[in-house]
Amino acid sequence: MTQQRYRVTPGAALGGVLEVPGDKSISHRALLLNALARGRAEVTGILEGEDCLATRRALQAMGVAIQRQAAGHYRITGVGRQGFSAPAGPLDFGNSGTGLRLMAGIVAAQRFDTVLTGDESLRQRPMNRIAEPLNQMGARVDTTAGCPPVTTTGGRTLKAIRYAQPVASAQVKSAILLAALNASGRTHIRAPGPSRDHTERLLQAMGAPLVCEGDAVSLEGPADLNALDIDVPGDFSSAAFFLVAGCLAAPNGLAINNVGLNPSRTGLLAILELMGAKIRVQRRRMAGGEPVADLQATQGPLRGATIPADLVPLAIDEFPIVFAAAAVAEGVTHVAGAAELRHKESDRIRVMAEGLRRLGVRVEERPDGASIYGGGLTAGEVDSAGDHRVAMAFAVAALVADGPVDIHNTANVATSFPGFDALARSAGFQIEVGSD
Ligand code: S3P
Repeated sequence: MTQQRYRVTPGAALGGVLEVPGDKSISHRALLLNALARGRAEVTGILEGEDCLATRRALQAMGVAIQRQAAGHYRITGVGRQGFSAPAGPLDFGNSGTGLRLMAGIVAAQRFDTVLTGDESLRQRPMNRIAEPLNQMGARVDTTAGCPPVTTTGGRTLKAIRYAQPVASAQVKSAILLAALNASGRTHIRAPGPSRDHTERLLQAMGAPLVCEGDAVSLEGPADLNALDIDVPGDFSSAAFFLVAGCLAAPNGLAINNVGLNPSRTGLLAILELMGAKIRVQRRRMAGGEPVADLQATQGPLRGATIPADLVPLAIDEFPIVFAAAAVAEGVTHVAGAAELRHKESDRIRVMAEGLRRLGVRVEERPDGASIYGGGLTAGEVDSAGDHRVAMAFAVAALVADGPVDIHNTANVATSFPGFDALARSAGFQIEVGSD
């Protein structure tokens, strides 16, 4: 792949009204759960980023008919929870931990063997967290030294388990729930804290006997799903970049419409409020079983904050942009209890700390977080380490740097936010895309 870079020149005044692409977590689930269901579903607003396209290809490789009707509009004909056919080769999930981990819960209960793999980043991410519970259910899931490639052995009979997650993870919870659809008995999952609940919402809407109680969830299997038409809302985690961009550089406000506001995802709103940001949430409504609203962010000074521990899991994908906001705020921002950031598409604590330091920011790194000393950024060059959210976070921070910032290794922005640079330009960013 040709390497791509961004050059962002500061000083832009942002404004206007925009919409971000569909929610990545919900798009994966809309595809996977409707594939497991019986019947035909029309899903609109699907994110056409590399991650979700990889999930679509993997399902198609196992005999699921998924037809693109229009941009973001797919017709999925479910095969039923046992109706998949053996793929001809390994299933490649690219950069996507969600795709691989959720699919593991599905294929662990099929009659055939599979190999699940991905790109260099995904092949370094921890997979024992799914292998252990799935194997307790009677599956045979093997990892490669704890990482992908992951292999599943077909023809196993799954049984329900009671499982206490050592770390709250929506991907692990979802993998277990999807396996539980094919297991006999009530599977019970307890977590040490919250994680996103899109799987639970969709399973319930599709007729699964699922019960949520605080941070615990249980499902009685075996259970069939009914196909469900879904209108996927805009991704809060993509809107996050434009929210902070508006706070930094939109004197008359920047509006982002139709954004999913699932409460397990919106910790950034509370964090930005603590930092003194001017954000308005308007036209709250429901769409596709999820809360949705229109957002507006207006330029104003940000101040450093100590991020409360209970907001960390609710903002887990937003820490690259939180670090960026902290770097340009007045005062110090302290992040703790966020060790999971080291297991995302990159080690986000290390990569953000290194990049910010290259732009003149003082950062003290700790195993589970960092202290970021605000005050602004210099011009310079940073490497995103191939992490989409790191690349976009630096593009936003660069709006208020004291000269141009080159961000290297940005091609993976297309995994979650195809067209980011064009949308950013339409909002007023001075962003050029080049090749390295
Ligand atoms: C996701 C869950 C989160 C998040 C990831 C997407 C999902 O990870 O970081 O980007 O769609 O289930 P966890 O599994 O650690 O909660």
